[in-house]
Amino acid sequence: MQPIAIFHEHPDWFKPLFAELERRGLPFVRLDASSHAYDPGEDDVPYSLVVNRASPSAYLRGHGQSTFYTLHWLRHLERIGIPVVNGSSVYSFELSKASQLDLLEELGLPYPRSRAINDPGRAVAAARALRYPVLVKANIGGSGAGIVRYESEEALAGAVARGEVGLGIDGVGLVQESAPLRDGHIVRVETLGGKYLYAIKVYPAVGSFDLCPADACQTANGIELVRGACAVDAPKTGLRVEGYTPPSEIVAQIEAISRRAGLDVGGIEYLVDDRDGCHYFYDVNALSNFVADPLNVIGFDPWVTLVDYLESRATRRIPAVSGAATAFERSADASPVADHPAAAPLLSSPVSPLP
Ligand SMILES: Nc1ncnc2c1ncn2[C@@H]1O[C@H](COP(=O)(O)OP(=O)(O)O)[C@@H](O)[C@H]1O
Ligand SMILES: [Mg+2]
Repeated sequence: MQPIAIFHEHPDWFKPLFAELERRGLPFVRLDASSHAYDPGEDDVPYSLVVNRASPSAYLRGHGQSTFYTLHWLRHLERIGIPVVNGSSVYSFELSKASQLDLLEELGLPYPRSRAINDPGRAVAAARALRYPVLVKANIGGSGAGIVRYESEEALAGAVARGEVGLGIDGVGLVQESAPLRDGHIVRVETLGGKYLYAIKVYPAVGSFDLCPADACQTANGIELVRGACAVDAPKTGLRVEGYTPPSEIVAQIEAISRRAGLDVGGIEYLVDDRDGCHYFYDVNALSNFVADPLNVIGFDPWVTLVDYLESRATRRIPAVSGAATAFERSADASPVADHPAAAPLLSSPVSPLP
């Protein structure tokens, strides 16, 4: 079997994935999404499957170059017929909170009232159609990046006048009603192959928009979690999580979103607005980071289920691969972990540590 290629730039999030692949002796290579090259003229690559784990928050780690490059490379892989997990179509949704809302609208599903803008000077007028407080969200975000809350028109207008409202790396933003969270939590539902996998309630730390479940450090009743996907010295986030089963009609809606977005694996978030008791979807994540310490939180290890899925998708047999570009991929960019069991390095250049 040719190796499964895991394309990523975050140094820690996929440690549990690599551990599970290694445990099963499945060949895999790690491809550095922040330093990579391909030949548009090649007609094959030496992988049984490419798993896209690029993150829209890469720019926070100095890896903004991966953001749009990933889209180009995924389109290339799809053109030459390589099976890809979370390919270009779903990655395009990952790169646009505005497009995620369009998808929800198309499906007739509820989302917080919002406007998309490409000029901070439009924010105040856009917010006039909404109720305060509002959030201004960067279209390309992740881990709460680029989200600021404004309590009033005066506060928003002042920030715009001072040039403080940034719209992020594609110059696009959402102005969105900020809902008071019923019971202080949101719900994150993971899906795999378009099906419900598990859900958790996430209680954000006060004043934080970073809800990365892998960073969670406590269950809702205060038990410390083992954070296998974090740097050992990662700061405690104050994020608390709890396993949860959403109502079946919400699960059905989640699966509809997942299938429409073409999510092979990914998490969808919703909140219940305390003002009306209704649920609203607001985030479709193709980069799924499973919850820290899953055995303690949800009672099973979703990384095992994910690797089952990857194994079922990695059925491609490649007779022989030819061409200079492939030789490059082999020598410079990729190296089956089976040959280098101890190091399993992220090839190309090393990933810089988180700031
Ligand atoms: N409309 C909203 N009302 C209230 N809180 C929100 C809303 N949108 C986002 N949040 C909070 O901010 C967090 C991050 O927002 P999200 O859109 O998921 O961005 P990211 O892509 O960075 O995860 C959410 O998990 C939630 O806690
Ligand atoms: Mg989110």
